[in-house]
Amino acid sequence: MNLSNFLKNKNYNSELKNILLNIQSGSIEVYKKINEENNDVLGSSGQKNIQNEEVQKLDIIANDIFIDCFSKNSTIHSVLSEENEDTIDLSNSGKYLIAMDPLDGSSNIDVNIPVGSIFSILENNINHFLQAGKHQKLACYVIYGTSTVMVFAIENDVFSFTLNTKTKEYILSHDNIKTPEDGTIFSINEGNYNSIDNRIIEYVNICKNLNSSGKRTHTGRFVGSLVADFHRNMLKGGIFIYPKTSDKPHGQLRLIYECNPIAFIAKNANAKSTSLDQDILSIIPSKMHQRTPFVVGSNNMVNKLLSFFN
Ligand code: AHG
Ligand code: MN
Ligand code: MN
Repeated sequence: MNLSNFLKNKNYNSELKNILLNIQSGSIEVYKKINEENNDVLGSSGQKNIQNEEVQKLDIIANDIFIDCFSKNSTIHSVLSEENEDTIDLSNSGKYLIAMDPLDGSSNIDVNIPVGSIFSILENNINHFLQAGKHQKLACYVIYGTSTVMVFAIENDVFSFTLNTKTKEYILSHDNIKTPEDGTIFSINEGNYNSIDNRIIEYVNICKNLNSSGKRTHTGRFVGSLVADFHRNMLKGGIFIYPKTSDKPHGQLRLIYECNPIAFIAKNANAKSTSLDQDILSIIPSKMHQRTPFVVGSNNMVNKLLSFFN
C-alpha cells in the first residue's frame, strides 16, 4: 500500500496527514537531486550557518526544497531550520510549526554514506518553538541510503515506507516498529574519548568485554549520520551516545530538530532517550538552536548506562 492510500484509511488529523504528504514530495525531490539529476550537488557551498558550520550545497538544496513544499500548505505557521538563524514565517493563520534538519549527516554527502532529513511537528502556541518535545504531534525522518525510507511516529505508532524509485511512490514496509529491549550495538564517536564523562567510558568498556568463551558481546557502529545510526539501532537494538565533550560543552546534536523528533520516534517504538540529566522529551528549550547531550536506544541498554549516573 502506498502512503496516500494508507493515510486515507487512517483517521489521523487531516492536517498532519497533509504535512506527511508535503514531506513525501519534498523528500522525493531530494532523492532525485542525490540519485538522478547529475547536476552539482556535492561539495561545500562556501557559506557558514548559524552553527558556524561549513554548509554543503545539498544542505541548501534540501532546505529550499522543503521550505518550498511547506510554503504551499496554509496550515503551517512557520519553519525552524538548522540552516536558518531565524524562523521562516509562512502562514499567519497556520496551526502547525515545523522544525527541521533538512540534510542530516552533511559530512557524509561526498563519500556516499547515508544521509537524512528530520522533521518535528508542533502545534503553534505562545511558546512557539520553545516547547518540550513531549508536545510533538508528529515526528518524521527520511533516510537516503541503499534505499530511501520514510519513518514517522504518530499517535503511539511508528511506520516505515520505502520509496519505489520507478513509480516514485512510498510503499508501506513496516507497520509497527518496536525496538528490541536489548541490543549488541553501541554507537559513539571514540574520537571524543579523552573529553567525555568517565562513566560513559566505563559503560562502553563493559560492552567491549568478551564473554566466557572469549567472544565479543557487542559491536561498535558509528557512521556520523544521526539518522543512519538511529535507524539501524531502532530496528536491530542498540544504543547511540553523543555526550557533551570539551569542544561541545552542550553536546553536538540540536534539541528541537534532531533530538526531539528522534526521541519521539524512539518512545513510540518502546525505546528510550535521555540527556543523561533528564528525559529528552521533557527538556523545555530556551534557545531555538540549542544543543543537548543525547543518548537513545534499547531500554535495557539506556537504563544500564543511566545506572552509572544514578
Ligand atoms: P548535520 O550534518 O545535520 O550537522 O548533523 C551531523 C550530526 C549527526 O548527524 C551526527 O550523528 C553527528 O553530527 C556526528 O558528529 P561528529 O562528526 O562530531 O561525530
Ligand atoms: Mn543533523
Ligand atoms: Mn543538517
